[in-house]
Amino acid sequence: MADEEVYRASTYAPVNIAVVKYWGKRDTTLNLPTNSSLSVTLSQDDLRTHTTASCSPTFTADSLTLNGNPQDITTPRTQACLRELRALRHALETSNPSLPKLSTMSLRLTSANNFPTAAGLASSAAGFAALVRAIADLYALPTPPEDLSRIARQGSGSACRSLFGGYVAWNTGTSPDGSDSLAHLIAPASHWPDMRALLLITNPSQKAISSTAGMQQTVATSPLFPHRAAEIVPPRMRAMEKAILSRDFDSFATLTMKESNNFHACCADTHPPIFYMNDTSRACIRVCEALNVAAGRAVCAYTFDAGPNCVVYYLQADEQVVAGSFKGLVGEGKEGWEGKGVEARAAPQGLETVGEMVRQGVGRVILTGVGDGPRRTEQHLC
Ligand code: DP6
Repeated sequence: MADEEVYRASTYAPVNIAVVKYWGKRDTTLNLPTNSSLSVTLSQDDLRTHTTASCSPTFTADSLTLNGNPQDITTPRTQACLRELRALRHALETSNPSLPKLSTMSLRLTSANNFPTAAGLASSAAGFAALVRAIADLYALPTPPEDLSRIARQGSGSACRSLFGGYVAWNTGTSPDGSDSLAHLIAPASHWPDMRALLLITNPSQKAISSTAGMQQTVATSPLFPHRAAEIVPPRMRAMEKAILSRDFDSFATLTMKESNNFHACCADTHPPIFYMNDTSRACIRVCEALNVAAGRAVCAYTFDAGPNCVVYYLQADEQVVAGSFKGLVGEGKEGWEGKGVEARAAPQGLETVGEMVRQGVGRVILTGVGDGPRRTEQHLC
């Protein structure tokens, strides 16, 4: 096949970890949420999906591989993304007939994560953000990221927030067709660049119920859930945005921890109950609480997604107190501490039992921070 017949674009896209959680859909086909959410985009130096989108008149079918393994590209969510992107390219080709007819060609999508898939980190956000961004670049779409977020949302809800760096909100919107259910930037990473995140990756145990399935069980059965969506989240969205804009870590931390707790309370209120956190997760919470009490202020905030891994947000100035104390408990020998300049230190008194649970239960760590949005690259995977 002549190389010049292949059109390519590649991108890196980041992971995001919500501090106001998306949980529940009001429309499962369009992937519309029951409540707004807000997240911090993490640095792509540590966590990212790299995707190359290519197309050629010689390709015979659409295909998708992740870390070298063929993936099902026929799922309705992936198909919705491809359909929307092709329609935008088709409109460009119609308005400018000299453009090559990329919208009619088969797509070859090749992705790789730079973090272990087995770590149980939500990779669908970075994955769908990279897929949508790479195809949009391949098609030279002038579409702004807000509009691309509407497309990525249909792949995976949380993916819409990974089209931006820094601090990102996803508004639930009110329109039945989902046209106003978009992500937007609250503040770039440079606004509050000293935000750090320590990911405590717990040893893999049994597979948890997926977010997609779990959230709809909550919607269907939890009497707490409507209260969360209607009364808890809206004021928290406003308060979280204010905390970020004023770089108020104390409020950010308190809201983040309360949000995680409320989300997991709704999971426990689901029938039958869903338990994402395990004993190690709860031990990590105890450590965070003890660090905050010992410091006399909020130096760290824990949050958990649909799994047992703990994400601890803190500011760079408190790195030795927070990450250093966790290093002392987790153990210096665990993977992820190398070259990060964190000194292990003794944790506050009284943490012997939970400290042992953290040591036994955390298999590796990832030290990272707030980062930027998708980056175009000339490094092509195929
Ligand atoms: C707990 O975005 O994975 O991480 O839209 O069904 O793909 P789908 O769900 P997904 O759910 C993420 C849930 C969460 C909270 C969050 O990221 O806001």
